[in-house]
Amino acid sequence: MTLVGGKRVRPGYSVSTPGVAAELSAALRSDRTVQPPFREFERFEVAHRRRDAGAGPGGLMLNCSDGRNDVCPHIPLGGPFLLTCRAPTGAVQRDCMISNPLAMTGRTVLVTGASSGIGRETAILLSELEATVIIAGRNRERLSGTRERMRGSRHRIEAFDLGDAAAIPAWIKRLALETGPLFGLVHSAGIHKVAPLRMMSPAGIEEVMRANVTSAMMLVSGFRQRGCSVRGSSIVLISSVAGLAGQAGIGAYSASKAALIGFSRSAAMELAGEGIRVNCVAPGIVETEMADELREKVTAEQFAAIEAMHPLGLGKPLDVAFATAFLLGDTARWITGTTLVVDGGYTAR
Ligand SMILES: NC(=O)c1ccc[n+]([C@@H]2O[C@H](COP(=O)([O-])OP(=O)(O)OC[C@H]3O[C@@H](n4cnc5c(N)ncnc54)[C@H](OP(=O)(O)O)[C@@H]3O)[C@@H](O)[C@H]2O)c1
Repeated sequence: MTLVGGKRVRPGYSVSTPGVAAELSAALRSDRTVQPPFREFERFEVAHRRRDAGAGPGGLMLNCSDGRNDVCPHIPLGGPFLLTCRAPTGAVQRDCMISNPLAMTGRTVLVTGASSGIGRETAILLSELEATVIIAGRNRERLSGTRERMRGSRHRIEAFDLGDAAAIPAWIKRLALETGPLFGLVHSAGIHKVAPLRMMSPAGIEEVMRANVTSAMMLVSGFRQRGCSVRGSSIVLISSVAGLAGQAGIGAYSASKAALIGFSRSAAMELAGEGIRVNCVAPGIVETEMADELREKVTAEQFAAIEAMHPLGLGKPLDVAFATAFLLGDTARWITGTTLVVDGGYTAR
């Protein structure tokens, strides 16, 4: 049985309001755009009809008429469908559900570190979930490589050095002006340094902190600026199990990743009232360039020992991307200030 706006719908799209039934039924059989008003959809307008070849079933996209677009129900063609409705107060109607709870249709997400590894894979996955993705990194060429692997042409490349932390809020303001307010932020950019205590220097520590922590704080600060993000939006910071469990020789990196976890909790408290969720993902070792660099800096025996600490083996970037998409989407709408460990069992011992 299917629900539309809380009303039961039989096959053929008959609903209790004949006008709505006729409009929906006709729209689902044609390519034309449907205009409001619908009595059952007073809070929504039908934005456009999608029928992506090879991209799963097409359907009708409904955007919130107040412009927030924080819920974008997707009506598949032909089959039964469910709608999610969010009242202007922000209260979710219990009798409606979205067809794909991970769908990001109509939502814009900024992904840092998108030129490589986890950030790249997250950007690709989000494009497959129909988000519009702003892919950020310093290396424009590698960002182009990411975009080539993404679904759809709506995505945007942003070459930006997060080392210039003071410039981050203005950068996000510009992005929001040019693309519309953001629904999500994934901060995957980061650096990893192997530096035992005897080799530590203030400059080395500050380099790691600036790249991993100061950038995150300024990104979140920028994201929450008026007009830069929508209510109901979500931030995911990529931390690490190094922030949870001890590992010799990476003190500054571990401290930076623990700092992200502490910061995310504080920010979650501060931004809950603004309808913004903040969470971390803490991966174990994932097969990316960063892991390759680690492999080069330690002996084969040391790397084998690190690998053996992951009962499910080393992770793939997509393993982290899945967890990130879960925390970004409505699937995690009641989750904030937490850290999702994705580590193949590394911390389970
Ligand atoms: N791989 C792992 O085993 C692992 C495990 C736990 C946590 N993590 C964390 O996951 C995140 C992603 O790691 P990864 O393995 O995907 O790393 P990666 O392949 O080395 O990619 C790092 C990304 O960060 C970007 N970046 C670095 N410094 C930047 C700066 N100053 N400004 C803008 N972008 C910058 C790089 O882009 P450009 O070079 O284009 O600037 C690149 O896209 C990191 O935060 C890392 O600490 C990784």
